Amino acid sequence: MKTPIVILLLAYFCKGQQLSFDSNFRFGVATASYQVEGAWNIDGKGESIWDHLTHTQSSYIVDGSNGDIACDAYHKTAEDVQRLVDLGVDFYRFSISWPRIFPSGHRNYINQAGIDYYNGLIDELLAHNITPMVTMYHWDLPQSLQEIGGWPNPLLVNYFVDYADVLFSSFGDRVKEWITFNEPVQVCSDAYSTGGLAPAYTQDGIGGYLCSYTLLMAHARTYELYNNNYRDTQNGRVGITLSASWGYPASNSDEDVEAAENFLQFKVGWFAHPIFSSTGDFPTVMKERIAQLSQEEGFPRSRLPSFTDEEVALLKGSSDFFGLNHYTTNECSVLPEEDAIRPSQQADHGALCVQPPGTEVGGSDWLYVVPEGIRNLLNWIRTEYDNPEVMITENGFSDRDGDLNDCRRINYFNEYLQNVLEAIEDGCNVTTYTAWSFMDNFEWMKGYSEKFGLYYVDFNDDDRPRTPKMSAYVFKNIIQTRVIDT
Ligand code: NOJ
Repeated sequence: MKTPIVILLLAYFCKGQQLSFDSNFRFGVATASYQVEGAWNIDGKGESIWDHLTHTQSSYIVDGSNGDIACDAYHKTAEDVQRLVDLGVDFYRFSISWPRIFPSGHRNYINQAGIDYYNGLIDELLAHNITPMVTMYHWDLPQSLQEIGGWPNPLLVNYFVDYADVLFSSFGDRVKEWITFNEPVQVCSDAYSTGGLAPAYTQDGIGGYLCSYTLLMAHARTYELYNNNYRDTQNGRVGITLSASWGYPASNSDEDVEAAENFLQFKVGWFAHPIFSSTGDFPTVMKERIAQLSQEEGFPRSRLPSFTDEEVALLKGSSDFFGLNHYTTNECSVLPEEDAIRPSQQADHGALCVQPPGTEVGGSDWLYVVPEGIRNLLNWIRTEYDNPEVMITENGFSDRDGDLNDCRRINYFNEYLQNVLEAIEDGCNVTTYTAWSFMDNFEWMKGYSEKFGLYYVDFNDDDRPRTPKMSAYVFKNIIQTRVIDT
């Protein structure tokens, strides 16, 4: 992949003030198993909740599609790793499909073909000096575990720790960066409260909070397992990736300022506070508001579960880094009481967060382009959680046409990266940046209609050929030069 001369010229002539990343700052790209692998029933893989949803209720997916083949990455390890080499990335973030390892969800049977597939990918990456960064759970729960209730069932803590144990023992000699969960807010809120992700349950204000208890304890117990059994010999790092939009108040009124802060506490603090604050618990505002509303609504106890002292101790500090997925910013005002449907998470936080006026919208209707949002958010994390190491594990822009001359994506990367640099100058401890995504892929309920890739994938061609977009060349140039053109 040779950089076209036009990119080099653009890079040269378009430069204003130049900011640059340190040589030890790391760049990578990311994908997730269900979104790219395909091979949904090949070599002994079990059914996941996404296989199940797309096969039984395809109307949930806007284009009726599924991830049966997706990008067929399962069959393209060597050529995809060569593309990563072409991009010049330091690391590749990918996820492991739980039902490919435990087809029935349980440790009673381990699928050796699944282990072999990930061994092949990891070894190929390492052979090319690319660090594997592994997400253990990027949303493809074994269907068998959904049938016993999925994440709202606290028994899943044990099942997840069994799975994590097999991952550490099988791959931990070579994998040194582990992310337990990708975007727990989405796993809990969208999947079990608002129905926006598989299994598409709609128990708003209830299911999501039950899920959050299980997921946090599964994370903390996995961290404990690594500390007790693996850290000394494997010397790796274990963290979690949280999604966080920035939210700012629509006015200076006390109500709007409080609404924006509540939005951040309910969306970011929900999972960040138990792990990264000194309390080891949910944010106080969350506990108080939900307890009060639950009482008014006639619930016998708060809809938000609570932790024992032993659980608090396990949660506190249970992450070696703060993995951050950031895409967008919202403007927040107080939610009018008459618009509050109860019970619901929105009524609980009491904020109405919408598109900031005049902002560009990506191919996803929630993706508003506000580059300074990432800088504001990074500074909020710095002050709220005592400046943890932040690894940006996703950031990117969607369109619908998949244009190879993807200027809007290029602008997005340049402007967001410039704000990351400014945040670093502010004192934020950001070490890592990951572009979402390596290639166009299955965008959950949006099927193949929204495209985030640096590489275009032709889903109409059985061979799923990949073509680098202009943004791939620009990203490669950024990695090489460490310079952002503004
Ligand atoms: C975050 C998720 O982790 C990823 O799977 C998804 O494709 C992107 N957001 C874009 O929506």
